[in-house]
This record gives sequence, structure tokens and C-alpha cells, in this order.
Amino acid sequence: MTSFIDRDRAIAAITEQLTEIEERLIPTGLHVFGRGSELKEKAAMLQMIASFDRPEHNAQSLPRLVAEALGLESDLLSESPANETRALITGILNETIAQFCERGADHAGAYLNDKAGVKTEDSRATFALLEKVSRQLDSNHEIESLVRALRGEYIEPGPGADIIQNPLILPTGRNTHAVNPYSVPSRAAFDRAKHAADALLHRYLDEHGRYPRSIALVLWGLDNIKTQGEGVAQALWLLGVRPVRDALNRATEVEVIPLDELKRPRIDVVMTVSGIFRDLFAPTMALLDKAVRRVASLAEPHEMNYVRRHVSQSVDHGAMEYDDAVTRVFSNASGNYGTNVNFLVMQSAWGDAASLGDLFVTRKCFAYTRDSQGRTIEGREAPHLMDAALSRVEATYQNIDSFEVGITDVDHYFEYLGGISKAVETRSKSRPSIYLSDSLSPQTKIRSLEETVQLETRTKTLNPKWYEGMLKHGFRGVAEIENHVTNTFGWSATADAVDPWIYTEITNTFLLDDEMLNRLTELNHYSVQSLAKRLLEAHERGYWNPQEEVLERLREIMSRMELGIGKAVEHHA
Ligand code: BEZ
Ligand code: MG
Repeated sequence: MTSFIDRDRAIAAITEQLTEIEERLIPTGLHVFGRGSELKEKAAMLQMIASFDRPEHNAQSLPRLVAEALGLESDLLSESPANETRALITGILNETIAQFCERGADHAGAYLNDKAGVKTEDSRATFALLEKVSRQLDSNHEIESLVRALRGEYIEPGPGADIIQNPLILPTGRNTHAVNPYSVPSRAAFDRAKHAADALLHRYLDEHGRYPRSIALVLWGLDNIKTQGEGVAQALWLLGVRPVRDALNRATEVEVIPLDELKRPRIDVVMTVSGIFRDLFAPTMALLDKAVRRVASLAEPHEMNYVRRHVSQSVDHGAMEYDDAVTRVFSNASGNYGTNVNFLVMQSAWGDAASLGDLFVTRKCFAYTRDSQGRTIEGREAPHLMDAALSRVEATYQNIDSFEVGITDVDHYFEYLGGISKAVETRSKSRPSIYLSDSLSPQTKIRSLEETVQLETRTKTLNPKWYEGMLKHGFRGVAEIENHVTNTFGWSATADAVDPWIYTEITNTFLLDDEMLNRLTELNHYSVQSLAKRLLEAHERGYWNPQEEVLERLREIMSRMELGIGKAVEHHA
């Protein structure tokens, strides 16, 4: 019998999930090159930007200012603030931003003072920042810059980042500069990384009752530019070391954090870095390799140092030389990029799922390390080393570092995190726990892949706000919807992480609703055909099992589109 307490808990959990969906920033359309933001989009962006403390601008988070002024500060900091508190603060914030957009900073400041008692001098710096961002969002020089670039003229440089993390990326249309690889990871990135990596370890601990002995990490170049190396810092923190800067302030050394300070075992990490990362961050790869070697050399008990444990196991069994046994940093062959797993999935050109993981290893098994004599080894093809390292992995992980691009928006998340997870599954004989972080929210949140797929599906693919935003773009918008479905399918193919209801709802929303089907067909019948085909493939591969009449309908839609008689679909009884 379920008790009232269970019922209340279930209701609280559902409320929590609904709030999470509600509070997410949902892109409502594609960026149109050369065009400034629309008002609604701008307001949502400004509200997000105003939700973080920005010490570099002396600007304080508006939700925090409101909570403090109303004496609700401690509620807001709790794990799950009461809904009334959240609703109250969000309501005030919505109206403040509306006032700001309509009537300017002074009015918004006065409103906040009037409504919540926030002193105008406390909110002034935040509104000043919003004014600057707002002006930059209104104007747009992208086309001008493109034309200048085509003429070979000078383009002003600017940092690359997520707009909400770092509004200094505005104005757009500039030449994104990289970072000095020796500055990575920055101190701030290391501090943020500790929170994210600890949250990851706690999540695993909660689910499995012990720490993971080995984690496979995906590191991307642009993400580490944007975050000043947060992914790199996570790897170091999991190993239990911190970066040390030399006399030239370059992060070239690591310092071991003693176990009594770390208070947990050192986790073994297998790092797969993208081709872009390899090109941009050679010294960082050397730093990561050095960190693993240092940790492997520590005279510590095996149950507190999983790197040493694993290296000893490989060497003691005579299976490997020491230098091979400590190799953990892998990437593509020099001059190569990507895993190709996405292409195989998109073209339906694969047999069993294991082949997707095998392709990942084939593409990514190039070792970047330095041997015991200090000789640099760059890009040695070493599938046996990668196989051995992956065979011990218990969890796989990647950061999401942008508010705008998630795991169903592009095919790269499933090619990397999905590809490596499938490779681990066949090599370790067990599916790893797969996690992603939102390193964006003030309290870093770790989600399982399954949770993330559901969240993305609910906030984007199946959300009328999202797909109507896409449909405003006509032909391209329908293609985007189809892309999302293919990327979702990619998570079935590589990680079996998509609940069947997701395929059912996608079918109901886009293909079994005649009015919607007509709209999509008018705009882009090619994508409608691909969509129906993909859903049928999902069934053939065993990811969902709809009724025969649904399959029949999908086949019918597919062949109609193929014959180009897509337009004007008759009403279907
Ligand atoms: C990267 O920045 O490393 C990256 C970007 C897009 C796809 C994959 C990797
Ligand atoms: Mg990214």
C-alpha cells in the first residue's frame, strides 16, 4: 500500500521535474544570420543573464537580490526551494525584465525596489550590464563581417563562449579567438570543475554504493576554450591532482592532492579528445598525460588509487609494458577529425550496434603520451591500449557547456559520448552508467543520459514552443525537426537510452496529426519522408513497437513522399 508520504514524495518529484522543464531556456527558432534578436528571445536571454552573479561586472544575480530583500535567501539556497518561493521570485523577475525591455533600466530598478524592496543601487550594475547586452543584441554586423572576411580584411577578434556564461562574446560577427593552452585550466575553471566532478561521483555512489574505478571522459576543443578548460580540470580533479603554474605562469605541472585531503580514491580516467582539442591544446594533453603518470607512481594502496591498481594489474600479468599501461589520452590520427559514428547512423549503414563502438575505437585509438624517457609520442595507433583502458570503464561522461546546444541538437554528442559508451559496453561486457552535466546552472546538475534525452525531448522536440519556432523557418525548420529525431535515434543506436514513448509521441505529433502532416509536407516533403523512414527503422531495430496500423501509415506516408505526391495529404479517418 502506498502511504501518504510516498504519494507526497512522488508529487514533489513530479513538481520538481515540471519546474525544471519550465525553467529551461528553450531556443524558439534558429539564428538568422545577420539579424538581431527578437524581443521575446531577447527577454528570455536577458533574464538568464541576470540570474548569475557576475563579479567581473560587479553585477549581482537578480533572483538572489530579490530573495535577500524578501528574506527568502535561505529557501532559495536549499536543494529544492519551495514552489511558492520559486514562483514568487520568477514572477517578479519576469515583470522586471518586461519593464526593462519596455521602459528601460530606471523603471525596472524602480519596479524591483517597489515590488521586492531591492535597493536601486544594488541592482544598478546588473541593469547596466543588461543595457549593454540588449544594445548588442539589437544590432548585428554579421553580414558586414562576413563580407569583410571574404575580402580578406581585418575582423575584430572576440572571445568564444556561451552568451549566458560570458556576455562579453557580444557583439557577434567577430573572429573567435582561442585561448592560450598554457592558461588552461584557469583557477575559476578548476573550482567549478570540483563541484561538477564531485556531483558526478556522488551520483554514481548513490546508484552503485561505491565510487566508479574508471571513468571515460570526452573532451572537446571549443568547450574547453569556452570554459577555460573545465573538462580538463574535471579530469585532474578526478585523478586527485591540481595544476601548478611555472615561473612563466604556464600550467605545465601538477601537484598531488594528499588522500587525507581528497577523502576518496583517485579515479582512473580515460580521455578521448576531439581532433580540434588535439590541434589547440597540445600542452594540455601533455599535462593530462603527466597527471596520470604521476598518480600511477604514487605509493598508495590500490583501493585508494585506481590508476595504480589498474597499471599494476596490467604490468604484473605481463600483459603490458609500463609505458603502455599508463596511456590514457587518446584522439584521432594526426590530421583526422571525428568518429564517423554519426555518419554510419544517419546513413543506416550499420549492422549490429557493437560495430558503432568498434568504429569509435578505430578512429580514436591514437595515443598521445610521453614515454618514461620523456620522448613524445604523438598519435601512435594503439587500439589494444584503448581496448584495455575501456574494458575497465564503469561510467562515461561529458559536459554540456552551452544553453543553446544540447544532446539532440547536433549529432556530435551521440557520435562521441554514445560511441565511447558502446565501445565500453562491448569491451567491459557491461553497459556503463552514462552521465552528462549541466555545468551551467549555479548548482551543477548531473543527469543520466536517459534523463537528459527525456528532458531534451520534452523541452524541444515535443514542445510546441520549440517546433513552432522551427516551423517559422519553413523548409529548414522541418529539416531541424527531422534532425532532432535522427539525433534522438542516435542515442538508441549507441546507448539504448530512448524510451519507446518518445518515438510514439513523435509519431503522434508530427505524422499522425493530419493538419501537422500537411503543414510539414507543404514546407519540406523530403524531411517528412526521412522522418517516416527513421521511425520505421527505429521499429525494425527494436527501439519501439507500435501497432501494425501505425506502421502501415508510416509506410504509406513514406511512399507518398517518395513519389512526390506529398502535398495535400487526405484526411485520414
Ligand atoms: C570540438 O570543439 O572539439 C568539437 C566541435 C564539434 C564537434 C566535435 C568536437
Ligand atoms: Mg558545445
